[in-house]
Amino acid sequence: MAGSRGGFSSRLGFIMAAAGSAVGLGNIWGFPTQTASNGGAAFVFMYLILAFCLAYPAFMAEILIGRFGQANAVTSLQKMSRTVFQKRFAFVVGFGGIICAALILSFYGIVAGWMMAHTIEPIAKLVGSDATANWLVSFSFVRNLVFTALFVGLTIFIISRGVEEGIEKWSKRLMPMMLTLLVLLIGYVMTLEGASEGLNAYLNPDFSRVLEPSLLLSALGQAFFSLSLGTSVMVIYGSYISKKENMVTLGAQVTLIDVSIAFLAGLLIIPAMYVAQAQGVQIFAADGSLLSEDTLVFTVLPSLFTSMGSVGAFIAIGFFALMSIAALTSSISMLEGPVSYVVERHNVERKKASTYIGIGIFFLSVLIMANFSTLFGLVITISTKYGQPIVAMLCCVFVGWIWQRNSLLQELKEGHQLVEEGIFWKIWPIYTKVVCPAAIGMVFLHSLS
Ligand code: PHE
Repeated sequence: MAGSRGGFSSRLGFIMAAAGSAVGLGNIWGFPTQTASNGGAAFVFMYLILAFCLAYPAFMAEILIGRFGQANAVTSLQKMSRTVFQKRFAFVVGFGGIICAALILSFYGIVAGWMMAHTIEPIAKLVGSDATANWLVSFSFVRNLVFTALFVGLTIFIISRGVEEGIEKWSKRLMPMMLTLLVLLIGYVMTLEGASEGLNAYLNPDFSRVLEPSLLLSALGQAFFSLSLGTSVMVIYGSYISKKENMVTLGAQVTLIDVSIAFLAGLLIIPAMYVAQAQGVQIFAADGSLLSEDTLVFTVLPSLFTSMGSVGAFIAIGFFALMSIAALTSSISMLEGPVSYVVERHNVERKKASTYIGIGIFFLSVLIMANFSTLFGLVITISTKYGQPIVAMLCCVFVGWIWQRNSLLQELKEGHQLVEEGIFWKIWPIYTKVVCPAAIGMVFLHSLS
């Protein structure tokens, strides 16, 4: 499709891959726990508004940059630059996104490794190996090392196979599997005592909280992380879309899937927390705040599963498999960012590039694991709190201020001849030019204070 660099074979291929990147630990773990610690439904309400009003326009900017450039993030941004200064600026933004993706993968791989270890633990218990089961769920350097290596290995395996045979094929397999697991788990949890109290907390907003700055900040950060913005990932996925596709609807579909799955995950996790509470497991600390996020997933939910008896083991396997699969379709997109850059700019063979870059990122993970208490939080803060909003904002600046309006319109017209007459063209350009950079900038500055 897109010549020798490969591309998605169909519209469904892109939707599955981009939704696969977007839907990850951010949706299934981050969103529900942020919701629970930010006043329940009030957070959900603001998240929905910010996701559609700010994250969707920024997402459109990134996939359009990619489809226009038909190349990795740096080359794509440079194609729309006219002066030497703009070309340098393009390099900084594109490369900044690539670094951000690599940094995110370095901590994401560790967390995904924990998910994989927790998937295997009930099996170890079922076959009577309690010592192994215990090792699998206890925090140790060796356990972390083994499972991060396994997870990064899987990521390298998929990315080395290319766009159609790797990313697309595996996203198409894994995404339906993940959705089925999610729906089955929700169905089961809803039958348990305490679930309706959880539903109530999740769905009845306390409107007095919706404008709290800390709530807005968390909701916007969550929306950006969830749509994988500011990491070059959506630029590169955009570059694999055929020129025949209508970008406006494709972008809206992916955003809708991402938001819906976050919402569904909330329907699972929040009622599950209240079910656990009904069974005597503590979920709120003495001061009324939610227990920290990792306690929730790695202590509260497992003790809920244990209290369910033999069926609990299967629910636990399903739950952690769901987390691991969601993480894998995201991590492949993170590796694709740097790999596509090296393959296209330095003519390195894809298999080689995937292996070496994957191993390089794994070493970074090892460094983090060896200095866990200092580096883990720091890398998350640098990449998601600073890196992503800055790069995403600069991508909007590129589209709004550097890309010539006519050329932008031509790009949108490919696959959607009548775009000029629709509401999208009336609103979106001004959004990307002014509203998105200003809002992201304001939120970012506020987060520094
Ligand atoms: N969107 C993914 C999630 O919600 C995380 C991600 C961030 C993926 C950045 C790619 C790039 O888990």
